[in-house]
Amino acid sequence: MARRKIVAGNWKMNMTPSEAVKLTEELNPLVASDDVDVVYCVPAIDITTVVEAVKGTKVAVGAQNLYFEDKGAYTGEIAAPMLVDAGVKYVIIGHSERREYFKEDDAMLNKKVKKALEAGLIPILCCGESLEQREMGVTMDWIRFQIKSDLVGVTAEQVASLVIAYEPIWAIGTGKTATTEQAQEVCKGIRECIAEMYDQATAEAVRIQYGGSVNGGNAAELFAQPDIDGGLVGGASLKADFGKIVNYK
Ligand code: PGA
Repeated sequence: MARRKIVAGNWKMNMTPSEAVKLTEELNPLVASDDVDVVYCVPAIDITTVVEAVKGTKVAVGAQNLYFEDKGAYTGEIAAPMLVDAGVKYVIIGHSERREYFKEDDAMLNKKVKKALEAGLIPILCCGESLEQREMGVTMDWIRFQIKSDLVGVTAEQVASLVIAYEPIWAIGTGKTATTEQAQEVCKGIRECIAEMYDQATAEAVRIQYGGSVNGGNAAELFAQPDIDGGLVGGASLKADFGKIVNYK
């Protein structure tokens, strides 16, 4: 069965709750689509208002992070059951900004992936190499390491349901998109890695996004690649361009 495309906006640390309502109302009519799953991954404080503002549309709401315990003395953290209860369906895990600025390592991300799945959330698991790693020729080794460590103990059935986002760090927020060939090559490599770890059916089912300076002008070519099942979009998800990305055809 053909994989359904999924386009997720990563709002990062942008939009106050009142700005979030305005943006959602502006974007909703532009992102209407019958063949693409659309997600707004919003700051935690915006979740309740955005869940309300997408009612009656097909847009799903995602979080940008979660903690791997269900509750307790973890000041400042947000638990999976809280997200679920608030109406969240997806959660970004292991974005390179969290790995770099907040020192999230693969052992922690593995716990987060398992917790999200256990709670019924769909993880958007991010991976990606730095420019130094690309230049050293270790891109695929690094990505395979991330994927293997982040998925320890995750079943084939669970992997088939999740989303992996390949985001080369050097392409994030830089306006420097990976070439279509580079993006396809790594997304294909991720699928091969999943096939080795699990089986062909799981590899065929898992959805793999490309992220890093995706915009209305380059989405069509990227999403036409056989192993690219949509995009994780930062900057362009905060403007009308997001509608063009969703309706890329
Ligand atoms: P960008 O960000 O689209 O602004 O490059 C992508 C991301 O970080 O998810």
